Amino acid sequence: MTVVVVVVDDAVAQQQQLPPGHGQTVCVTGAAGYIASWLVKLLLERGYTVKGTVRNPDDPKNAHLKALDGAAERLVLCKADLLDYDSISAAVDGCHGVFHTASPVTDDPEQMVEPAVRGTEYVIKAAADAGTVRRVVFTSSIGAVTMDPNRGPDVVVDESCWSDLEHCKKTKWATIFLSTDQNWYCYGKAVAEQAACKVAKERGVDLVVVNPVLVVGPLLQPTVNASAVHILKYLDGSAKKYTNAVQAYVDVRDVAAAHVLVFESPGASGRYLCAERVLHREDVVHILGKLFPEYPVPTRCSDEVNPRKQPYKMSNKKLQDLGLQFIPVSDSLYATVKSLQVKGHLPVLSKDIPAELNGVTA
Ligand SMILES: NC(=O)c1ccc[n+]([C@@H]2O[C@H](COP(=O)([O-])OP(=O)(O)OC[C@H]3O[C@@H](n4cnc5c(N)ncnc54)[C@H](OP(=O)(O)O)[C@@H]3O)[C@@H](O)[C@H]2O)c1
Repeated sequence: MTVVVVVVDDAVAQQQQLPPGHGQTVCVTGAAGYIASWLVKLLLERGYTVKGTVRNPDDPKNAHLKALDGAAERLVLCKADLLDYDSISAAVDGCHGVFHTASPVTDDPEQMVEPAVRGTEYVIKAAADAGTVRRVVFTSSIGAVTMDPNRGPDVVVDESCWSDLEHCKKTKWATIFLSTDQNWYCYGKAVAEQAACKVAKERGVDLVVVNPVLVVGPLLQPTVNASAVHILKYLDGSAKKYTNAVQAYVDVRDVAAAHVLVFESPGASGRYLCAERVLHREDVVHILGKLFPEYPVPTRCSDEVNPRKQPYKMSNKKLQDLGLQFIPVSDSLYATVKSLQVKGHLPVLSKDIPAELNGVTA
């Protein structure tokens, strides 16, 4: 399929009440992923033509993308791998914007670091080479922000914070991945973000970064991604206890909205922390247990020795200032579980939530 790029002057588009993305083509890497699927949906709703990269366009796991409103007319799936420059370049060719969300999500250093870093460098270079891209939005992570053992307990985590790379290599992050003693995911994301900034500066590319915290909320894709496992394990009996740990959460629909906001806001620059709030794991299981008492949600902490970890303070002011109103985390957790049920990842044990529990808040 050939993408025809029609550029409409902003003022003309406004006068004709055309959607903001009308006549603009954007590339979304890793389009079938959890976050990217919502991003593609939102971009299509806003009138953009989307070139979404996937590793195999014929894979049935992309069917949810093809079913999105507007996809038949304005979504093109391009075969691309992060380690193949030519495939990335072909996907970015002719685009006005690029959203680079594709990344391995693993703690295996060999699978994580090189595709994250080299793939990101390729995307920025391809955007520079294309000559038509006005902004690249890179999906980084909270993992590039908070892994700093020297940050004081009263420091408000904001966009100025960076993870300590040596600390990432030495510690595990008790959130998604519990299988190794090193935190190569956070390391890989931090190094990829640094590489993105370096190449963007060298090549004169306008780069804006979104740093989501742990993302929850409904799934569009048929498979269970890593952050959904974080919730699923508290419902399907695989986690018998919760850890003594804190974590910031945000809804996937807000993450998609944040990406579009920073792309469409001419004055947006630098990093944007995308977080609703920080919760202790005890708070998460409390919300889940109240909303879904039919599941074996753990009630005991695995650490009965140390004091309860205190949530750190985190600022989401930059995105709020752009107009983003965050979905409350309790609503996101509810939507996550309902979605896991609908997609067949969790058996439906009871249809109704007791009326008195509907108002559960974090
Ligand atoms: N979910 C979270 O809690 C969270 C929080 C902060 C930041 N993030 C970041 O958000 C982005 C999306 O994450 P997600 O949660 O949506 O994960 P996801 O569902 O696993 O999506 C990752 C996507 O990247 C693609 N990908 C991985 N390696 C690739 C490669 N070598 N070449 C081409 N494509 C490749 C995957 O394609 P395949 O399906 O073919 O493997 C998949 O479509 C990532 O950059 C992640 O680091 C996620």
